[in-house]
Amino acid sequence: MKIAIPKESRSGETRVAASPDVVKKLTGFGFQVIIEKGAGEASAITDDDFKTAGATIAKDAATALKGADMVLKIQPPTIEGKGAANELSLIKKGAVLVAHLGAMTNKKDVDAYAKAGITSFAMELMPRISRAQSMDILSSQSNLAGYKSVLDGAAEFGSAFPMMMTAAGTVPPAKVFIMGVGVAGLQAIATAKRLGAIVTATDVRPATREQVESLGGKFLTVDEEMEKDAETEAGYAKEMPKEYFEKQKAVVAEHIKKQDIVITTALIPGRKAPVLVTEDMVKSMKHGSVIVDLAVEAGGNCPLSKLGKVVETHGVKIVGHQNVPGRLAKDASALFAKNLFNFISPHVDAEKKTLTFDWEDETVSGTLITRDGKVVNPLLTGKGK
Ligand code: NAI
Repeated sequence: MKIAIPKESRSGETRVAASPDVVKKLTGFGFQVIIEKGAGEASAITDDDFKTAGATIAKDAATALKGADMVLKIQPPTIEGKGAANELSLIKKGAVLVAHLGAMTNKKDVDAYAKAGITSFAMELMPRISRAQSMDILSSQSNLAGYKSVLDGAAEFGSAFPMMMTAAGTVPPAKVFIMGVGVAGLQAIATAKRLGAIVTATDVRPATREQVESLGGKFLTVDEEMEKDAETEAGYAKEMPKEYFEKQKAVVAEHIKKQDIVITTALIPGRKAPVLVTEDMVKSMKHGSVIVDLAVEAGGNCPLSKLGKVVETHGVKIVGHQNVPGRLAKDASALFAKNLFNFISPHVDAEKKTLTFDWEDETVSGTLITRDGKVVNPLLTGKGK
């Protein structure tokens, strides 16, 4: 069986869907692993590192993908254009594609995979069951993004994080406010605490209060009653009613004035990110304060943030970096690759040196989006929850 890992072609993508560690494991199963030349460059993994681990290096994407039975990627393959510009056209019919496909928002792509006869798995749809934690690309990448968001905020902030008592005077500790306490938010709290900041945080899901407190942060409650019904069975936040947003606005507006750094991470799967920091709130913040909007790719938690840019508005710096996990490309690639490996390895038939998916397995049926020329995931066919 031939597994191909092309170099990511989309602009700003620094990650690669393989690591030397994972290549070693895949070749250990008897699979042939082909990696496109330079695929690991932006993640500080050289072709030689991959070769030493057992991979073959292909001169370009077409050569890497030719005849591949399985394709591992970070981003969805491009589906338009001719020749190498159209990555999907380089993948053979019947091949398996595993990546972050953004299936819920890229319907045209999903239809194209079906038409091309590809068996595709959208890893972002991995069910949130404990067995699947090691396969969860959203968690592994959000964790890194949460860490990096604090460093990005600190880099734009003109003061120190920890309190410093020096002979020349005292530097007060920075006040950091985290909005949205999922995987990224929790890591942001831990990182800001380690740097010596005073940390507060808020979330719609009441279970997060204890998690915030256990990391040494203070929880800001908006409305306990409405928050009782804020979580889906899958562990994600629900879209909250208008009255909640009104109340949240009032509570946050009072708090945000006194903050130095605000890190927003709030997301609702498959929808636009909720607006949590309004222009009036930005105006009320101290000059020199910083907002880091980790939800910028989903429309942003602050309407003033700009995708891929750091802007200064009303004296506040608003950080809207794109692909934040890709700013820690080496770690992000290693964890992503391991997530993919953990997903496929239970289905390896070691004797036949092939993959035999157990279609009944929740991790398979939950992420499978196209098979035998059809779109099959209930979330996409309208037959799911
Ligand atoms: P996410 O990335 O979808 O959202 C980030 C945070 O924003 C969430 O905590 C959400 O509650 C919050 N949020 C949404 N709307 C908000 C609003 N209007 N105001 C304030 N906060 C708002 O969430 P993420 O990081 O994916 O985690 C969701 C949950 O899933 C967590 O409890 C996490 O521990 C759990 N999880 C479970 C896994 C498993 O069991 N396999 C794997 C990963 C996460």
